[in-house]
Amino acid sequence: MSGEQKRSKTGDTAETSDTITNNKTKWSRWCKKFWWTFGGLVVAVMVVSLSFVAEPDCAAYKATGHMASGVYTLGSTPALAGVEVYCDMKPGGGWTVIQRRLDGSVFFNRTWEEYKHGFGNKNGEYWLGNENIHRLTTQKDYILRIDMMDWDGNKRYAEYNTFRVSGESEQYRLTISGYSGTAGDTITDSYSIKRGGSWQTSGQMFSTVDRDNDGHIFRSCSQRYGQGGGWYRNGCGGAKLNGRYLGNCGNSCPHAQGVTWYDWRGHSYSLKSVSMKIRPR
Ligand SMILES: *[C@@H]1O[C@H](CO)[C@@H](O)[C@H](O)[C@H]1NC(C)=O
Repeated sequence: MSGEQKRSKTGDTAETSDTITNNKTKWSRWCKKFWWTFGGLVVAVMVVSLSFVAEPDCAAYKATGHMASGVYTLGSTPALAGVEVYCDMKPGGGWTVIQRRLDGSVFFNRTWEEYKHGFGNKNGEYWLGNENIHRLTTQKDYILRIDMMDWDGNKRYAEYNTFRVSGESEQYRLTISGYSGTAGDTITDSYSIKRGGSWQTSGQMFSTVDRDNDGHIFRSCSQRYGQGGGWYRNGCGGAKLNGRYLGNCGNSCPHAQGVTWYDWRGHSYSLKSVSMKIRPR
C-alpha cells in the first residue's frame, strides 16, 4: 500500500513537472511562431512610432535640445517621414538646409525629375528636392536665409521673411518677399530695378534644363546660364545659386555661368560656398 502510494506520488510529481516542461516548450514555441508571424509588424510599429518622435524640421529638433549640426531625419507628418536634411544648429540656428554648395563634388545640371526628388549628399552638397521643399514650406510660415562666402573668406547673407514653394501642379511656383541682409537683394528687387526690369522673381515657376518655365520670352535661362534649376525671371536674373561650380576664377569667370549673386560679386564671380536654409517665422 505504502509502496503503491509512494509510486503514485512519484508518478504524480513526475507528471506535474512534465506538464510544466511541456507548457514551457509550448510557450517558447508559441513565442517563436508569434515572432515569425508578427515580427515584421512589431518592427513596423516601432518604426512608425519613431517617425512620430521625429520632428518636422530642424527648428523643432533644436527646441527639443538637439544642439549639434548634422544630418537629421524628419518625420511627424507622413509626407516628410524619413526625409534626411542637414540641420545648421549654430547659435541662433535651427535652420533646415535645402541647398548647399561647398566644393563642386555634386553636379547641379540636373533634370526636372532630379530637382523634384532631390540629389546630392546630405553631409556635403545637395538639393533637398522641390517636393520636400514644397511640403516643408506649406506646413508652417518660413524665413529663407542664404549664406554665402567668397574665395577670400568674406561672408554675406540675404534673408527673406516669406518663403514658400507651391506644388508640382503649379510648377513649384515661388513666393518670396521681405528682404534683409548684407548681400543685397538679388532675388526680389534691386537687380530687377538696376536692370530696368519689372517682373519680380516672386510668383515665378521653377525651371530646369529640360523644362523651361522661366520669364524669358525666347530663351531657356537654365540652358543658357549654368544649367542649374531655378526660379528664373524675365531677364533670367542675377541669382544663380545652382549654377556651375567654377571654383576660384576671380572676376573673370564665364559670364553668368557660375554660382552667382549679382548684388554682391556680380555675374563674373563664382562663389566658394552657398547654403539656402529655412526656419519657421
Ligand atoms: C554636367 O556638367 C558636367 C561638367 O561641366 C559635365 O561633365 C556633365 O556631363 C554634365 N551633365 C549633364 C547631365 O549635362
